[in-house]
Amino acid sequence: MSKHIAIGVDIGGSGIKAAPVNLKTGEFADERYRIPTPQPSTPEAVGKTVAKCIAKFEPSRKTPIGVAFPGVIQHGVVKTAANVEDSWIGVNLRELIRDYAGHDVHVLNDADAAGFGEYRYGAAHGRDGSIFMSTLGTGIGTAMIVDGTLVPNLELGHIIIDGHDAEEYAAESARTRLGLDWDGWIAELQKYYSEIERLFWPDMIIVGGGVSKKSHMFLPHLTLRAPIVPAELLNGAGIVGAAAAAHAECVKEKARAKENAKLAERNAKKAAKRGEKASDRG
Ligand code: BGC
Repeated sequence: MSKHIAIGVDIGGSGIKAAPVNLKTGEFADERYRIPTPQPSTPEAVGKTVAKCIAKFEPSRKTPIGVAFPGVIQHGVVKTAANVEDSWIGVNLRELIRDYAGHDVHVLNDADAAGFGEYRYGAAHGRDGSIFMSTLGTGIGTAMIVDGTLVPNLELGHIIIDGHDAEEYAAESARTRLGLDWDGWIAELQKYYSEIERLFWPDMIIVGGGVSKKSHMFLPHLTLRAPIVPAELLNGAGIVGAAAAAHAECVKEKARAKENAKLAERNAKKAAKRGEKASDRG
């Protein structure tokens, strides 16, 4: 597999989707592969399905692979499960997938992946300042990228508005669950994004998730200080962002390893010199 390719996998409630991504352009290098999320979506069943998605693209040992998950991920471990089974809490997702796929992977929150994808290749391409990414789906996923750096695991879909968890009223799923028409849902979105602006003052707001395809129905009706724009990578943002984040992590790891090797060499030389001096004295 070419060195400009990384694989991205997006674990969702209804489907697990994967594709190889061309890191130069942010485009899929092959057709996206999708397997319905196994039910019940236990860690074991999902781990096996993710491994199948990865194997489909025959990665080389060095191909970076990123996996996006709909919950907080801290140091490879799943910490929250707002819209997935509770049995996920405490699971080391990185190890789980490594065991099934036989390949190391980078794991991150799905909205973080989407935000990183939009920053690298989409609506916020190369933009400085603070970019607020939101995905409107079953829940609300959020991410903040500040001058190109992702601040991980911001769970701002769960801020409390009018005494309720925001995603219960402003997520795309709430629109159908509560039987809201566009105007009713727009009123909920207005409250949500106004509160985000009041607290975080982002320079730009991006709206992703399946409903962003219909952004003309609601974005022009929101009154906000910052420009609010639809995601450009649409439903591919999670895959593209996961792949790009995995690649960025590999680059960082290589740089760290190089730095450590240099330090070790320097220390070894110093130790040798000290040894020489000691034997001269002796
Ligand atoms: C979860 C987030 C996730 C979002 C979108 C929320 O309910 O708490 O971690 O990013 O849904 O899947």
